[in-house]
Amino acid sequence: MPRATIPRMKTLVVANWKMSPATSREAKKLFEATKKIAETCKKVSLVVAPPTIFLRELAVSYRGRSLSFAAQHAHPDSGKAFTGETSLAQVRDAKAAYLIVGHAERRAMGETNDDTAKKTAAALALGMTPILCIGEKQRTVSGDYFLEVKEQLRAGLAEVPVKKHGKVIIAYEPVWAIGGSSGMVPRDMHEMSIFIRKSMVELYGAEGLNVRILYGGSVDETNARAMLEGGDISGFLVGRASTDADKFEVLIHAISYPSS
Ligand code: PGA
Repeated sequence: MPRATIPRMKTLVVANWKMSPATSREAKKLFEATKKIAETCKKVSLVVAPPTIFLRELAVSYRGRSLSFAAQHAHPDSGKAFTGETSLAQVRDAKAAYLIVGHAERRAMGETNDDTAKKTAAALALGMTPILCIGEKQRTVSGDYFLEVKEQLRAGLAEVPVKKHGKVIIAYEPVWAIGGSSGMVPRDMHEMSIFIRKSMVELYGAEGLNVRILYGGSVDETNARAMLEGGDISGFLVGRASTDADKFEVLIHAISYPSS
């Protein structure tokens, strides 16, 4: 049965700024606005994932408790010679409590299922919360995309001890819905949530039923509430709509309060 009401636990919303904004000044401005939204909407737990270069200056100067920080990417091996990379230990030191793993855009740049396994395990070892992104590239009538999703789930958790699975958040983001004009319908997400829980139980046992699942892909102020009510999810991974403070505020209000 789809959930008829907003779940009692706080809704988790991860604001994935991707490669925006262009300047530190704009990043601070967007962060100030996001902070205000977080302070006024107590029903939502907000996680901001800024570009790595802005992470430290935003996080270190933040004294509040209304939001947390995520790194969009970090290399799991600390102290090695990898030109241009930022290590997990460095983003942890810059106050990132979460790590986005296996985002579709990083998979498109070469991140493999094996990489997601390493990153998920390394993040947990540093006391961070991994947000493991999974999702099929396209849907076919045969339904074989379910196998793709299950394999991403299996591989991403392959190096994590079963007792720590509850600490990993799963973000289901169908690639075809990211950056598009419309997201997935709640009914299809509800089916996918059931499939993810069922797969977790099959792969790792009954505890898997309690996995936290986020939805991502063209989430905005017009579709978020219906998805939260009908998709059997714990929250969202939001891209574009999180970099427009006005839209984001309406989105957060929409999932915090009933419309009538
Ligand atoms: P979008 O991106 O909300 O802009 O579709 C979502 C994501 O990639 O996490």
